Amino acid sequence: MEFSVKAQSLYKIVTEALVIAIPANQSMTADIKLLDNSSTNIISQILKKGDLGKNFGNTVVLHQVPGIKAQRLLLINSGTKNSLSDSEYKQLVRNSLKNLETLNVKNIALTLNQLNVDNRDANWAVEQATLIALETQYRVKRISKEKVIPSSLQSISFITKGKTPSTALIKSVNQAQAVAHGIALSKDLANLPPNICTPNYLTKEAQKLGKEWKLKVDVLEKSDMEKLGMGSLLAVAQGSHQAPKLITMKYNGATQKNDKPIVLVGKGITFDTGGISLKPAPEMDEMKFDMCGAASVFGVMRAVAEMKLPINLIGIVPTCENMPDGNATRPGDIVTSMSGQTIEILNTDAEGRLILCDALTYAQRFEPKTIIDIATLTGACVIALGNEAAALFANNDHLSLALKQAGDITGDRVWPMPLWEEYHEGLKSNFADMANVAGRAGGSITAACFLAKFTREVTWAHLDIAGVAYRGGKEKGATGRPVSMLCQFLTQQ
Ligand code: BES
Ligand code: MN
Ligand code: ZN
Repeated sequence: MEFSVKAQSLYKIVTEALVIAIPANQSMTADIKLLDNSSTNIISQILKKGDLGKNFGNTVVLHQVPGIKAQRLLLINSGTKNSLSDSEYKQLVRNSLKNLETLNVKNIALTLNQLNVDNRDANWAVEQATLIALETQYRVKRISKEKVIPSSLQSISFITKGKTPSTALIKSVNQAQAVAHGIALSKDLANLPPNICTPNYLTKEAQKLGKEWKLKVDVLEKSDMEKLGMGSLLAVAQGSHQAPKLITMKYNGATQKNDKPIVLVGKGITFDTGGISLKPAPEMDEMKFDMCGAASVFGVMRAVAEMKLPINLIGIVPTCENMPDGNATRPGDIVTSMSGQTIEILNTDAEGRLILCDALTYAQRFEPKTIIDIATLTGACVIALGNEAAALFANNDHLSLALKQAGDITGDRVWPMPLWEEYHEGLKSNFADMANVAGRAGGSITAACFLAKFTREVTWAHLDIAGVAYRGGKEKGATGRPVSMLCQFLTQQ
């Protein structure tokens, strides 16, 4: 898909479809009035007859309107408010694109980016529209001989006010495309079946990504992990025939070469059966999405490289499979983590924290400015926040606020949760330094507290994405979250 930004009078725009927002109860803007006048007042007539309906988001398509260059006009009712909310704006963009999808047009011109949105600017508007356009184009790579029907849409122009489009606006469109490519990569990996997307497969994908985007990729094998003393990660992997891997991808974009890096750590359980603490059968297939944290790290690495952000970024992906087997970890086993702390594994289904703790210890050898881990860590998180917001835990208020704001701007939202000392109580063990689970209450918080025991010396945040990383049911599939939030956060660094 190609995007462009143009400053042009509406009646002069050559396109297969021109999208115009029409405010319901307000007077037309000067541009629209001009368009109306050049097209024998067709818009005023439609408004007078009430064809655009009363409801926000209603649309009318007009063909072969005289006096204008566009082949079609798509009018969309933008309601009675002077300024829209984020989600109202996005709904208008989505509605228009959905309508155009059925018309099979190849190129369109959008003017919705000129709408007023509360506390947002024109750059934000084109960014969001670009992301939505590429999201609607996304097709799951089905494993079938049947061909998927791609969208007919090939190019979108954003029409801006003024004489020439600003460089900032053009940059916004380019950056948003890079983010959308990262989101698509993240979805592609996460949607793959668990018999294909194994730790070894992810390793090969990382090496491919490295070649394409000039990332330095290192992989730790099982023997390396043994040498480093990653007893916790290895305990999760030992019930599977798939060898565990720990992938490191490095992007060096900072103007000062030895700038401290930001490290992202993504949970890469390619399938979570629960292990000996076996999960119930219903919906167990969805546990192929237990590598969505890892997938988001891949997506962010790709996006950041394409955006050429002036930062140093390291992506770490501990990846293995959690299977029951004669050699699997038993409830009651005690392991020694790379940090030296011992863990009594009371529930083998709390495996995410067990692979993350060793990855978090390993991450600290890069002397990071910040570590952020991303994980489909707990079902309790889904109970707490549902499918809207990811849970955000941090041992630093500045970091927490920056992530929260990045989430608000992108709509890829996160919500702060506590890490208070009192919550650590439940993780006590009679036999080791800690247990890997506490009681049922506050499950996402105690999971985060477990991770906090391995990040005391660094600025760290943990994102529990169990509720937002994928959808179940009829629309089953990965969402690519929180790639856009993290890209926004990194852009502001
Ligand atoms: N991968 C799951 C968490 C999960 C559950 C993600 C549902 C998405 C949807 C994780 O490994 C897990 O099994 N967590 C347990 C922890 C419990 C044993 C303390 C859980 O949430 O039940
Ligand atoms: Mn589990
Ligand atoms: Zn899991």
